Amino acid sequence: MVVSFVAYIAGVSAFPIASENLLPWSVWFLISVVINIVLWSNVMKLLTFSLAVIWFYAFVASLVPESSTAVNLTELDWSDPEAVAEQGALVFNGKGQCSACHTVDTSAPPGRCPDLTDIGLNAASRIPGMDARTYLIESLYFPANHLVPGYGKIMPEVWKAPIALSHVEIQAVIAYLESQGGEIDPTPFDEPIDRKDVSVTAEALPPLLTGDPELGKKVFVSAACNACHVVTGVEGPAAGEATTDFEVVTAPDLSEIAAFNDMRYLEESILLPSAQIVSGYGAVTVRANGITYQGTLVSQDEEKIVVRTKTADGVEEEHTILLSELDEEPIEELADLQAKGYFTLTLTPADADAPVSGAIVSETAETVTLNVNGEDKAFSKTDVKSMMTVVTFDGDEIVGEYVSGTMDDDEIVLIVDGSEEIFDTFDLEEVTFTRASGKKLLVTSPMPENFPLLLSVLDMSNLLSFLSTLTGATAEAVPAETGEAPAE
Ligand code: HEC
Ligand code: HEC
Repeated sequence: MVVSFVAYIAGVSAFPIASENLLPWSVWFLISVVINIVLWSNVMKLLTFSLAVIWFYAFVASLVPESSTAVNLTELDWSDPEAVAEQGALVFNGKGQCSACHTVDTSAPPGRCPDLTDIGLNAASRIPGMDARTYLIESLYFPANHLVPGYGKIMPEVWKAPIALSHVEIQAVIAYLESQGGEIDPTPFDEPIDRKDVSVTAEALPPLLTGDPELGKKVFVSAACNACHVVTGVEGPAAGEATTDFEVVTAPDLSEIAAFNDMRYLEESILLPSAQIVSGYGAVTVRANGITYQGTLVSQDEEKIVVRTKTADGVEEEHTILLSELDEEPIEELADLQAKGYFTLTLTPADADAPVSGAIVSETAETVTLNVNGEDKAFSKTDVKSMMTVVTFDGDEIVGEYVSGTMDDDEIVLIVDGSEEIFDTFDLEEVTFTRASGKKLLVTSPMPENFPLLLSVLDMSNLLSFLSTLTGATAEAVPAETGEAPAE
């Protein structure tokens, strides 16, 4: 009995390593069983039973696959690039938390983050002149540098806390991304950052929250956030109770919103909803081929957009519209063009005969830089010939360089596409002087903008405290070890 007891104590002291190594445990267990068969008593039964229970737990722990406990990559064997990519997949789905935001499945519903199917192939064409490898390295180290069109600054710098991937782990993830439709490049690369220089932990810490989450939950309901947003554990408004202050729209589920977003982002989402718009939820109004489409911007790339509209009887339709098909709209004021959503511009410089058009590259208060036939050229916003837009009774809208005439005269003369055109003012419904024209795509948030006025500072702090509890802690998307073990 003494021997068995000693075995038992020794076994308990071995417990911390039990989950990693089942062997010592099994040995203790067997010794105990053998001794018990020799010296059978009630005390022995009890001890054996306890040991059996602990052994059972150790056994279960040993069954849990490596990937869901911590993956600790310290070295990569580049002689087998496929194996490195597999290790990268573990980081992608585990410590890196990439799969909490990204899908690798084109049939998945569009989310807040780009789908990464074929990213190994697509990465090469994202930024002109940048190869796939460099693009992926930049995407992981400086995600805000090259935002994928239509997505906000949501992706965390994964080398910083709390995710804190090591250089080795990032190399493995990149190999995994390259393996999605591309070639794995086994050449090592230097980190574009100096970990010693950057305080790796500073940014991720949430500010001190002094609010009361329970009161915040009440604000969430009384401000009618729940009219649009689903949160597990919060009921939507009762039928008939729905507010008439705004149109209820489909909005992101907020049940896990705090798991991957910091408080600053949440605060901004409420106070400045249009600053960063969750992809797939923005509202747009565009005109193409004379037809106006008003609805939700489902997706966007360099060439086209997909807009979902709803007919009067509630039927949803999706329209794919080429950006080149968008109508040019007359512009009266050349200030803040990009903020107003303009991405191309046609203007006639005072010293030129013909109008120039191009994509807007950048702008200042005085100038706008256009990409004209592949070359960037700056134009003054003030030395611009006046344009005029005339609207006929048939609904046609024509923009041309202004030559002469007003509505008080018999005719108005414009230069349209290089040739002079004379309009009889009797045929015209309205005319406006414009400075230029351009194509415009302005995405706004359908979320009401008056919360800053409706919510007091106290409401806001309670609301943020409530939102910060929404980590979906029970949901499987969040790996269990997050938050516990600060990575090295
Ligand atoms: C909190 C959500 C979030 C997490 C976590 C996240 N990302 Fe992202 N990621 C985004 C968003 C949003 C974008 C698009 C905006 C941008 O380009 O930064 C993006 C962009 C990317 C791109 C560029 C995609 C393209 O189509 O060009 C790559 C590659 C990428 N992420 C990889 C990763 C990897 C690998 C991880 C894990 C180590 C990860 N992301 C973690 C949100 C996230
Ligand atoms: C009229 C419907 C509507 C109401 C009411 C509304 N929202 Fe939203 N909200 C949206 C839509 C649509 C989006 C996605 C577009 C965007 O990013 O602005 C959104 C985005 C968000 C986001 C960012 C979500 C993400 O996944 O990144 C947060 C956080 C949020 N809302 C919080 C709130 C809170 C808190 C309230 C109440 C004070 C509220 N919303 C009220 C429609 C609404």
